[in-house]
Amino acid sequence: MGVGGSAFLSFLAIHILLLFDFGLADDPVVNYNFVVSYITASPLGVPQQVIAVNGKFPGPTINVTTNNFVVVNVRNKLDEGLLLHWSGIQQRRSSWQDGVLGTNCPIPPKWNWTYQFQVKDQIGSFFYFPSLHFQRASGGFGGIIVNNRDIIPIPFDTPYGDITILIGDWYTRNHTALRKALDSGNDLGMPHGVLINGKGPYRYNDTLVPDGIEHETITVQPGKTYRLRVSNVGVSTSLNFRIQSHYLILAETEGSYTVQQNYTSLDIHVGQTYSFLVTMDQNASSDYYIVASARFVNETTWSRVTGVAVLHYTNSKGKASGPLPDPPQDQYDRTYSMNQARSIRWNVSASGARPNPQGSFRYGSINVTDVYVLKNKPPLVIGGKRRATLSGISFVNPETPIRLADQYKVKGVYKLEFPNRPLSGSPKLETSIINGTYKGFMEVVLQNNDTKVQSYHMSGYAVFVVGMDYGDWSENSRGTYNKWDGIARTTVQVYPGAWTAILISLDNVGVWNLRADNLDSWYLGQETYVRIVNPEPNNKTEFPMPDNALYCGALSRLQKPQHVSSANYLGGGGGGGRNEVLDD
Ligand SMILES: *[C@@H]1O[C@H](CO)[C@@H](O)[C@H](O)[C@H]1NC(C)=O
Ligand SMILES: *[C@@H]1O[C@H](CO)[C@@H](O)[C@H](O)[C@H]1NC(C)=O
Ligand SMILES: *[C@@H]1O[C@H](CO)[C@@H](O)[C@H](O)[C@H]1NC(C)=O
Ligand SMILES: *[C@@H]1O[C@H](CO)[C@@H](O)[C@H](O)[C@H]1NC(C)=O
Ligand SMILES: *[C@@H]1O[C@H](CO)[C@@H](O)[C@H](O)[C@H]1NC(C)=O
Ligand SMILES: *[C@@H]1O[C@H](CO)[C@@H](O)[C@H](O)[C@H]1NC(C)=O
Ligand SMILES: *[C@@H]1O[C@H](CO)[C@@H](O)[C@H](O)[C@H]1NC(C)=O
Ligand SMILES: *[C@@H]1O[C@H](CO)[C@@H](O)[C@H](O)[C@H]1NC(C)=O
Ligand SMILES: *[C@@H]1O[C@H](CO)[C@@H](O)[C@H](O)[C@H]1NC(C)=O
Ligand SMILES: *[C@@H]1O[C@H](CO)[C@@H](O)[C@H](O)[C@H]1NC(C)=O
Ligand SMILES: *[C@@H]1O[C@H](CO)[C@@H](O)[C@H](O)[C@H]1NC(C)=O
Ligand SMILES: *[C@@H]1O[C@H](CO)[C@@H](O)[C@H](O)[C@H]1NC(C)=O
Repeated sequence: MGVGGSAFLSFLAIHILLLFDFGLADDPVVNYNFVVSYITASPLGVPQQVIAVNGKFPGPTINVTTNNFVVVNVRNKLDEGLLLHWSGIQQRRSSWQDGVLGTNCPIPPKWNWTYQFQVKDQIGSFFYFPSLHFQRASGGFGGIIVNNRDIIPIPFDTPYGDITILIGDWYTRNHTALRKALDSGNDLGMPHGVLINGKGPYRYNDTLVPDGIEHETITVQPGKTYRLRVSNVGVSTSLNFRIQSHYLILAETEGSYTVQQNYTSLDIHVGQTYSFLVTMDQNASSDYYIVASARFVNETTWSRVTGVAVLHYTNSKGKASGPLPDPPQDQYDRTYSMNQARSIRWNVSASGARPNPQGSFRYGSINVTDVYVLKNKPPLVIGGKRRATLSGISFVNPETPIRLADQYKVKGVYKLEFPNRPLSGSPKLETSIINGTYKGFMEVVLQNNDTKVQSYHMSGYAVFVVGMDYGDWSENSRGTYNKWDGIARTTVQVYPGAWTAILISLDNVGVWNLRADNLDSWYLGQETYVRIVNPEPNNKTEFPMPDNALYCGALSRLQKPQHVSSANYLGGGGGGGRNEVLDD
């Protein structure tokens, strides 16, 4: 199955000039066709509309090799705008493909749009999801695997199998209902469950799990070692991941090989991905539980909010039974989870893609050029609406994407004045973004003044996680930074009443989203962008605007209608073009 010839040709046209510069002429193109639509599913026993990709929930895994050109033709069969975001894929030199509102106009209902990007300088585990309108709470997500090329070794024996596991909290209310709750100033309340690969819990307890719920079973060969790629694709709950009677050897996170360590369980915060090596070394007297349970909550009231799947050896002698393996017992020790997070370190001797090929992996000896302290506070009311802020600013998405506005020199779309320190005055609604210095080295301190764990994601980069601690960050906190083997990743957690410090080498030109990955905080305005401009523009540091770019906002007059009736999709949803202004 391939995408239409014209998308492919225009893709080549865009890149043809660049092939010589980068020596990429041999890099293969991998095509995907994604049809995004609603289907009815009952993961927790209650029928609801979920978002499927090619009829599947979760969507298919994208499995590519580093340096591949990836072409994904996305057809929007939802009833509202759509953008797919490739979380953790760095989109080097092309924020045009990032799939967030600051860089792309939404794909209108019934339209299709073709993403074209190269996965470069990164190897590991990521995931995609729909970035608009709270849609991730209804699905639309799937795993992304970026494999090494054969000439680049991996720092462990090739696993026998490779298994993608998507875990996340889940509501039986759909994303429109959840959005309404937030719009009317309410909290989302407790999720109704935790799904594992789109399925509800195994019936480990007749009282807690009703009959008739389908669960996930992962079948394995005894004695073999598997790579499990686990992502938290949920709304806003930190999850503890564990497998009964099995050790998890942590090997990779979001594109960096870690020092390989042995865990009985690991906390996976919203938006994060880890690879574990798991050896099937038990006696198969029964199946084993795979558990993803809510973290930092009252276990009694949250016991229903637990994801349970089954690890089934091919020689298994019976079903899993009895109590679930215990979660970490640390109610009175708030440093347990943080210490575990600090123990995740980068294997600096592992070969493979570096987050920053320019050599900035010696991050500890690079002088910082810009410092931003970003402070999260509990939601508050601004202008009669409940909003979330970063440093006193609640972000308002502009009608015209920032990158597009720059391209066409549209004035007044955003302010390039995001403050270095939290504002002391009253909080405000603004489209305020960070002025990044090209080739600068930025320190960002994320301070969480709320009572919930938050995770923050940076697009376009892997960031070095150099420190985290409880209390307020101060200049003196730098003395505690890990200047040698802090992990480079794309999504970091910030514990309540604590800070996390990251360093970013600003070598990727574009406009990049820096956001809370907890959907409620994000939806309520907890995000900004970092704009990085090469003062000497050329086509080497940033790809030109793709010729299929959509127009909206102040530029909507430039948008040509799209006639989808001739597109070769089955059940084209009525076909017909759409030529009004894009209005999402
Ligand atoms: C979401 O749920 C609401 C109310 O339960 C329902 O009216 C609506 O049709 C659903 N929306 C989608 C897209 O399924
Ligand atoms: C939409 O899909 C058709 C058929 O695959 C393709 O020819 C066309 O280029 C796509 N349009 C865009 C804007 O990606
Ligand atoms: C780090 O990577 C090297 C090179 O692949 C490997 O030999 C070594 O075992 C790894 N070290 C740890 C602690 O994971
Ligand atoms: C990914 O693709 C490679 C071939 O390129 C294949 O060897 C591997 O098994 C695939 N992985 C998964 C999880 O499908
Ligand atoms: C099932 O869960 C309930 C509620 O937590 C508990 O009281 C009961 O003991 C559990 N049953 C079994 C068989 O573990
Ligand atoms: C993990 O740790 C346990 C307990 O210390 C040990 O028995 C087991 O062999 C370790 N596994 C690996 C693969 O290192
Ligand atoms: C299998 O291992 C479990 C501990 O994990 C042990 O309780 C059980 O007796 C063993 N069964 C056999 C048949 O060896
Ligand atoms: C957890 O919730 C239960 C039921 O509401 C309550 O009885 C218990 O006191 C709570 N535990 C803690 C530690 O707050
Ligand atoms: C960093 O700054 C110090 C003092 O300002 C200077 O001596 C040093 O050479 C700089 N290091 C680099 C790598 O630029
Ligand atoms: C943004 O930063 C650049 C240096 O990187 C500087 O030249 C420019 O004046 C700044 N723009 C604003 C609006 O502060
Ligand atoms: C939030 O900040 C205030 C003022 O600095 C402080 O008193 C409070 O302890 C902080 N709370 C958290 C959870 O960080
Ligand atoms: C970049 O490429 C585009 C299209 O290929 C061309 O129009 C433009 O002049 C180039 N810009 C520079 C600075 O080379």
